[in-house]
Amino acid sequence: MRGLQLDSLNPALLNVQYAVRGELAIKAEEHREKLKTDDHGLPFGKVISSNIGNPQQKGLDQPPITFNRQVAALLEWPALAELAPNAFPKDVIARAKQLHEEIGSIGAYSHSQGAAMIRRHVADFIAERDGYPSDPNHIFLTGGASAGVSLLINMLISSPKSGILIPIPQYPLYTATLAAFSGVPLPYHLDEESEWATSPRDIEIAIEKARKDGIDVKALVIINPGNPTGALLDEPTMEKVVHLCEQHDIVLLADEVYQSNLHSRHTHPFISFKQVVRQMGSQVPLVSFHSISKGVTGECGRRGGYFECANIGEDVIALMYKMVSVGLCPPLSGQIGVDCMVRPPKPGDESYPLWEKETNETHAVLAARTKIMAERLNKLPGASCVNSPGALYLYPRLELPDRAVEAARQAGKEPDAFYAMQLLDETGICVVPGSGFGQKEGQNHYRLTCLCPGVEEYVGALEKFHLGFMERYGGL
Ligand SMILES: Cc1ncc(COP(=O)(O)O)c(C=O)c1O
Repeated sequence: MRGLQLDSLNPALLNVQYAVRGELAIKAEEHREKLKTDDHGLPFGKVISSNIGNPQQKGLDQPPITFNRQVAALLEWPALAELAPNAFPKDVIARAKQLHEEIGSIGAYSHSQGAAMIRRHVADFIAERDGYPSDPNHIFLTGGASAGVSLLINMLISSPKSGILIPIPQYPLYTATLAAFSGVPLPYHLDEESEWATSPRDIEIAIEKARKDGIDVKALVIINPGNPTGALLDEPTMEKVVHLCEQHDIVLLADEVYQSNLHSRHTHPFISFKQVVRQMGSQVPLVSFHSISKGVTGECGRRGGYFECANIGEDVIALMYKMVSVGLCPPLSGQIGVDCMVRPPKPGDESYPLWEKETNETHAVLAARTKIMAERLNKLPGASCVNSPGALYLYPRLELPDRAVEAARQAGKEPDAFYAMQLLDETGICVVPGSGFGQKEGQNHYRLTCLCPGVEEYVGALEKFHLGFMERYGGL
């Protein structure tokens, strides 16, 4: 009987790889369990989850924004507004009432594209951000940005010769989803020497190469601000990217989930691809993704996000609607989270002072940690690190001694995975090796988040480990 055997299933799924939750994350969980026992014998007292941009995870503990949680609480249990009237600011009660009147119980399915009122609020947010109108009927609320990315990749891959251009290093959602839908990842490299800049020329070279190989180039993914690099595209580069998409007739997929994670957001504000496309009067088809998982919201577990379509025909929008309706609707708790993200309290609202204090504090700690980490990592022999202007990560490069590379080979591991495993075993710090994001042949990196509290102690442990590792393998 064949039954549910690996060799009888969709073979594409066997090619899916997702390093963020890979071997190291599994080992970190094992260590975490072991630490609960009295005789664990581990040389550290806690596991530090520096591998994942999951702000509210236990141990990272980014505080949720009070306003968002109060609105969520009243939608979960509307009677609370009467039972504990003094526990909630007036604007929270008004917001929850308005959402409740529109949506009803959050235990019910909503419109498959997401509640109409919340989509209108998203459109208002986009219009205010960009200075160009946005159509709520072209917005799809999603269970996190991942669900939207997956839908678009599924729709775009029409044959095993369909390819999508992916930045390297990339967030592995893209290669993993492409593998699942049997599409071809077409890598283009970001330039570490120019602070991980996106080079339109390198994208063009990748397009030409793919076409020579008989690949139908369907779309270009840009992650801005970047994961794992944190890099921010400048406007002239964005315009060149849009021209390229026009010239080669490809869809632009703009992953903008880190748009509010800019460490100098007042001097270097985020510019969306939607704004650039409208400014240029371009007809390039654009899908932009956003999420409640990042920014200062950090509500990863609620699964909320949206994508906006621009320059996309009504027949395709109708097909998207059909596809999302197969899944009924995005989670309502995520939809409420999206409403709070795009419609935060305004000056004069009772919740505004606390909201402002909380968001400023989170921005400040992320910026300060990133700066300290980059400065200290750059002082280490055999390590260098671009100081990231945004997102939640640093992506240091390692120059590992030959003996370490040889030892990794003997152990059947990539050198950076070998380094990262020893780092985890000696310090409890869990990072993701660069091999999980893609990198140039012979290079080694790792990604760590700036979400970990106690940065001094944490970087101190990293430094001590690094020096010991380099000494052990003859690199000092
Ligand atoms: C670049 C990028 N895009 C998308 C996502 C997925 O986010 P979500 O939780 O909204 O699915 C992530 C998550 O880390 C990410 O880094």
